[in-house]
Amino acid sequence: MSSNPQHLSGNEIRTRFLDFYAQRGHQILASASLVPEDPTVLLTIAGMLPFKPIFLGQRTPEFKRATTSQKCIRTNDIENVGRTKRHQTFFEMLGNFSFGDYFKEQAIAWGWEISTEVFGLPKERLVVSVFEEDDEAYAIWRDQIGVPEARIKRMGADDNFWVSGPTGPCGPCSEIYYDFHPERGDDNIDLEDDTRFIEFYNLVFMQYNRDASGNLTPLQNKNIDTGMGLERITQILQQVPNNYETDLIFPIIETAAKIAGIEYHSSDENTKVSLKVIGDHVRSVVHMIADEIRASNVGRGYVLRRLIRRVVRHGRLIGISGEFINQVAETAIALSESAYPNVRKRETTIKAELQREEANFLKTLDRGEKLLQEVIEEVFYSLEHDPLYPYAPHPIISGLDAFTLYDTYGFPLELTQEIAGEKGVGVDVEGFNAEMQKQRIRAKEAHETIDLTVQGSLDKLAEHIQATEFLGYTQPTTTAKIVALFVNGIYQEEVSANELAVMEAMTTVQIVLDKTPFYAESGGQIGDRGYISGDGIVVQVEDVKKESDFFVHFGRIQRGTLRVGDNVTAQIDRAGRRRAQANHTATHLLQAALKTIVDNGISQAGSLVSFDRLRFDFNSPRGLTAEEIQQVEEQINTWIAEAHSAKIEVLPLAEAKARGAVAMFGEKYGDEVRVIDFPGVSMELCGGTHVSNTAEIGVFKIISEAGVASGVRRIEAVSGLAVLDYLNVRDKVVKDLSDRFKVKPEELPERITTLQNELRTTEKQLETLKGQLAIAKSDSLLQTAETFGDHKIIVAQLEGVDPESLKSAAERLLQKIGNGAVVLGSVPEADKVSLVAAFSPEVNKKGLQAGKFIGAIAKICGGGGGGRPNLAQAGGRDASKLPAALEQAQSDLNSALS
Ligand code: ALA
Repeated sequence: MSSNPQHLSGNEIRTRFLDFYAQRGHQILASASLVPEDPTVLLTIAGMLPFKPIFLGQRTPEFKRATTSQKCIRTNDIENVGRTKRHQTFFEMLGNFSFGDYFKEQAIAWGWEISTEVFGLPKERLVVSVFEEDDEAYAIWRDQIGVPEARIKRMGADDNFWVSGPTGPCGPCSEIYYDFHPERGDDNIDLEDDTRFIEFYNLVFMQYNRDASGNLTPLQNKNIDTGMGLERITQILQQVPNNYETDLIFPIIETAAKIAGIEYHSSDENTKVSLKVIGDHVRSVVHMIADEIRASNVGRGYVLRRLIRRVVRHGRLIGISGEFINQVAETAIALSESAYPNVRKRETTIKAELQREEANFLKTLDRGEKLLQEVIEEVFYSLEHDPLYPYAPHPIISGLDAFTLYDTYGFPLELTQEIAGEKGVGVDVEGFNAEMQKQRIRAKEAHETIDLTVQGSLDKLAEHIQATEFLGYTQPTTTAKIVALFVNGIYQEEVSANELAVMEAMTTVQIVLDKTPFYAESGGQIGDRGYISGDGIVVQVEDVKKESDFFVHFGRIQRGTLRVGDNVTAQIDRAGRRRAQANHTATHLLQAALKTIVDNGISQAGSLVSFDRLRFDFNSPRGLTAEEIQQVEEQINTWIAEAHSAKIEVLPLAEAKARGAVAMFGEKYGDEVRVIDFPGVSMELCGGTHVSNTAEIGVFKIISEAGVASGVRRIEAVSGLAVLDYLNVRDKVVKDLSDRFKVKPEELPERITTLQNELRTTEKQLETLKGQLAIAKSDSLLQTAETFGDHKIIVAQLEGVDPESLKSAAERLLQKIGNGAVVLGSVPEADKVSLVAAFSPEVNKKGLQAGKFIGAIAKICGGGGGGRPNLAQAGGRDASKLPAALEQAQSDLNSALS
């Protein structure tokens, strides 16, 4: 039986899919968050992602069959959004899943039934693909479903073997395509031709796990994972030319078009692309913020920021000049709220975050766009002046210019490429990357430059020596063998102390041992300090860094000669280590406290754990209030006082995640992870060293809280004895002040306020006096007055006179000379020029107006102004031009009045 495509709304299609599978024993589950549990991926990219641990046999499913409509974001094809019929960043994936229950035959049968019966797609318009080796699937389609052989295509692993990432659950798949042009015949079927076909349903027969080297191991169970792109099936059923014109997205486009005062269907191609980009990206950003992602410069935060910026930018391209994102976001929220109620619940947060990012970016855009235009003009200018013009090479923006735009104006490279691309100008991406790299190197400290050389030398040695074994979680000291020595990165068999050297000039050396108790800098925690000693040898270790699998000890030889192969004793400075680990645990407590007290969505963006302090960067759209800071501090000190013991375990990643351990985004985790658990307080994946009980931290104090980048805040804090150091310094300052002011410490604020007020009054008086002095002094100018016929002219500069006094001085001088013109200038404060002109009526009769006159003079100093014909004031910014401006005034007056 062939049927007709059903005209259904996107919402109805979603419901029908879920109902169809619910009637067949599937549990309907809500969409998981866009922030995946799985720390190896940035965002939820497929419907199966939340079920990965089930497929891998790490978690027992509550149901054998499930069906979902999953929010997904993929940004790998972001450039294609709006340009093809079907690329989106945000999409919904409808899926039915079997966890070791039904398999291929049933999945195919239901896949066909829902497509043809529920959605009414004509059978003769469907084509299917199977993995080239999957004879079983081929036979099912042909013999049980009855698809003609000409419409079953065998495809290679690239197309029909689905893997959830570089590693993970996978299996052969079979896809159902819709044919927009069956009249082109079965002989010419090319499924890659997207003017004719669209793939809308992927059935994955998930039966293997793929490891990093590509080996496949059969999974415990055979599973089914499917994905039907909601926007694609909607496009087919609503018979519109692309995904964007479906009722899932088009209302957003219409809102944007309305704001811009245009109409989608009659717009040109570029405008349509911009509208489609807006339609797509707005859905992404609304759902991302609803799922607690905040704009920043790292990880998901960066994806969000980039998408918001693209919306704003495309808004500009279609002629929207002000803020508009919340209007389009409102349409997106209204479209989604029935299926995903959290978008309405979080509406206020969503709109606040969008508005803030938009306003910031608009400012950046203004500045950056101007600069970019100049850069583009220069590119064309030099091109036209190229001797080879018009055969000169393609116009291109240099890597340095693109980098400056990025570094100084926050212009993402992609944006520069996009704007330049519209003018036919390319960007030197390699040059940009090189500048980026240079900046990274610039930012490193001097001894890290040596690191790079050590790394080069180590790479060559790596085949011959073993990775360093780290014993420092349990041992502060060990005997070890020297396996490599370097001086300034150059390999040496032997290095001796310079007997005559004083401390500064002691021989520096980099030592690699076979095993070590020294922690090497990583995960924000600083490397241990300590000593390496042996027969007549003493080396002071000043830092330890990891280069691939080797721990490199940076030291100074105080005594003796080191040789490769020698046995030595390596010993860390325990006091330093104790301080570092107290700070490291305190960092974990800080993260836990921020999540509890401020916002559960807070995530770590970076950290530094050193001996004397700690620093914690986190994503947050706003700063903390003084009250929150105090609460966070109190919470941490309570946990410290409660003396929680650490439970440190090495667990499979999935288990650690299942227990709720916090992972840092961007970290690569192996299959096994170290979990630092202070039960009930904090649980994090971490390779660092920690106290065994929170009581060892002693006390915790926040020193500062500030923004470091848009959307990223930084807390600096100290713990243990460092708090005492900190308090001692403060205490000394307070004592010193109370001695000087001769008041008790608690009376200091009031005393200072009184002094500030007195100072302000005195400053005001001083200003007045200065003015009076200037006026008094200005009388001496009378002698310098030049006489032209009946008129006298005074043009002069006075030192540091405010505009009001300057005006009084001019009026007074004019009164004294009677008939004539007075022009005075002064620099009352840095970067400020003040000018005044006072003309008598006779001067006005000669055609000179004070207002116009002084306005023109002020222009020379980069300013302007004006006023009445007899008296006018003006200002400027460039004080260096004042003498020239006054000269001009003098010569203008001379020629007009003589
Ligand atoms: N997991 C499969 C996909 O994303 C269904 O295409």
